[in-house]
Amino acid sequence: MTYQATTIPSARQSVRAELDTGTVIHLWLKSRRPGEVATMSVELDGIELQQVATARTEEFEFCKVALPRGGSLELSYDAKATDVSVIYAFLPTRVQNEGIRVLHHSAENAPPALSDGYHFRPLFGWMNDPNGFGRFGGQVHLFYQHYPHSLRWNTMHWGHAVSNDYVHWRHLPVFLFPSDDLSQRNDGRGGAFSGSAIAATGQGGDDIRVFYTEQVRDRKPEEQIQLSATSLDGLSAEPSTVILPERPGGLDLTLDFRDPYVFKGPDGRWKMLIGSRDKAGGVVLLYETLDPVGADGWTFLGTLHRENRYGMTAAECPCMVPLGDAGTSETRWALIFGLLTSRDQRGRRNMTSVTVGRFDGQSFTPELEQELDFGSDAYAFQAFVDDGGPVGIAWLANWTDVSKKEDFPTAMTLPRRVLWDGTAVLTPPVEGVNALRHAELDGTGRLAAGERLPLENGAVEIELDLSSPGAAFELRFDHTDIDLALRLDAEGLEILFGERGGKASPRYLAAGARPSTVRVFLDAGSIEVFADNGRWTGTKRLPTFMGVKAAQLSQGNGSIASARVWQLKL
Ligand code: FRU
Repeated sequence: MTYQATTIPSARQSVRAELDTGTVIHLWLKSRRPGEVATMSVELDGIELQQVATARTEEFEFCKVALPRGGSLELSYDAKATDVSVIYAFLPTRVQNEGIRVLHHSAENAPPALSDGYHFRPLFGWMNDPNGFGRFGGQVHLFYQHYPHSLRWNTMHWGHAVSNDYVHWRHLPVFLFPSDDLSQRNDGRGGAFSGSAIAATGQGGDDIRVFYTEQVRDRKPEEQIQLSATSLDGLSAEPSTVILPERPGGLDLTLDFRDPYVFKGPDGRWKMLIGSRDKAGGVVLLYETLDPVGADGWTFLGTLHRENRYGMTAAECPCMVPLGDAGTSETRWALIFGLLTSRDQRGRRNMTSVTVGRFDGQSFTPELEQELDFGSDAYAFQAFVDDGGPVGIAWLANWTDVSKKEDFPTAMTLPRRVLWDGTAVLTPPVEGVNALRHAELDGTGRLAAGERLPLENGAVEIELDLSSPGAAFELRFDHTDIDLALRLDAEGLEILFGERGGKASPRYLAAGARPSTVRVFLDAGSIEVFADNGRWTGTKRLPTFMGVKAAQLSQGNGSIASARVWQLKL
C-alpha cells in the first residue's frame, strides 16, 4: 500500500522583480484575520532582508522598504492571512523620468483594461479633483485626490504625476497621506482634501509648497482646516503644519471651509481662495500673506465673491487666473469654482461657473459670468499660469453619477488653455494634444458626404469646419451601450446623451452657440467638444469603456465644409 502525502493547498503568493540598488518599494497590506498579524517576507537574491507586518484588519497599512543593493527581489506572503493592495517600486533618482513600476495591485483597485486611452488616469485606485497643478523644477506636476485601495471615494491621499507636455504623464509615488488616525480605518472620515501648490523658492526650483484641507468628520469645532507642507525632492512631503486652524469668525459660515488655492496677486503677494458656504449660498473667501514662500502669516481679507444660483450649497475648488498680464489694472481675472449640488433648468448638476472681472488684490469686481462647460463633467477645474499663459485641467466626472455602492473609474479632462477673446473665456485643448494625431481616418470628405465612418477603437478626434457660423448638423455616434450624438441647431450646440432604459438625461446644451469650427475628442469613457477654439466647451463622461464604433452625419451634410478625423494615440 502506498501512502500519498496530502498536499496542503498553498496560499503562498510571490511578487518578483529585478531591481537596482537604492530602489524604494511602497506597499500596503492588512491582516485578513482579526487578532492575527499579517506578514510579508522581503528577500533579495534568496536572502531575507526583513519582514513587514501589520495587525490591522480594517484598512491597509503603508510600509516602505529601501533596498540596500540591487538584485532579484521576492516579496512573499500567505494570501489567506495577508491582503495586499498595491506594491510599486521606484528609484528616487530616476522616477521623475521613468515613473513608478507597479508590481502588484488587487482586483479591487485595478485600473480599467484599456490599451489606447489618452486621458490621464491613475494606475490604481480612485481619483477625483486635480490638485497642485503647476510647473515646478521645469516639469508640469499634477496631484489629485486619491484613494489607493478601491475604485470608490474613501480616505483621501494625494496621487502625483509629472509631464513635459501635459499629455504624456509619468506616475510618481503617492505624495500626501492622511493622518495616522484617519489611516486606521476605511470609513471615509476625511484625509488630505483638495488644494494647490506653488514653487516654494520662487525661483522655479524643485521645492514645492502644497496647501490642502485636512478633513476630519465630526471633529469639533472645525471639520476642515488648512494645512501646508513642502517637498524638497518633488516626490514626498515634509511634515505638514496648520496654517488656518479655523474659519473666519462673524460670517455665519457652515463647516464647509476647504480647497485652498494659492496664487500670485496683482500686487505680487500670495493670495489664497477658500470655498465655503453661508445661509445665502456659496462663498469664496480671500486670504493673503506677506511671507515670500507662503509658509505662514495668512490673514483673512474678506469675502471675495458669492453665488447662490441653481440651489447650490458650497463653493468648491475655487481658482483664479489673470487673463493677460497680472500686473496691470486693465487685466481681467477669471474666477472659476464648482457649484456643489446645483441643478440647472436643463437638469445638469454640479455646474462650474467662470466669473470674469477686475481684481486689485483685495476685491473682485465681476463683469460677466459664463458656464465653464456645457457637458458639466469637468469639475474642480484648476488652472495655473504657465509660461504661455494659464492652463487648467478638471475631473472628468460629476458627483451626481458617483455611487457609494459601485466602482467608478475616472479620468481627467484634456488640459485646456484659459484664454480671453475680449468678450468671453475660451478653454481650448492645449497644443500638445495635436501630437496625439496618429493616423488620419478621414481626410477625403467621407464623413462630410454622409458616409458612416468606422472609428477603429474609438480614440479619435473629429474636426469640423462649418460652411457658415451655426450651420445646423447632427453627428450620430454608434456606441454599444448608450445613445450619443452632437447636434447644432437654432437652439445651440448639444451633446445628446441617453442611457438605454435608464433615467432621462439632462440636456447638455450650449444655448445660443453658433460656432464655425468644432473639435470632438472621443475616448473610451468620454466625449469632449471644443467649439470655436473652446468658446463653447462640453465634456461628458460616458458609462462603460466601449469605444464609439462609428460616426455619421444624419442631417446637414451641406453644413460641413470639411471634416477630418484622426485616430489618437499616446
Ligand atoms: C470637490 C471636493 C472638494 C474636496 C474633495 C474631497 O470634488 O468635494 O471640495 O476637497 O472633493 O475629495
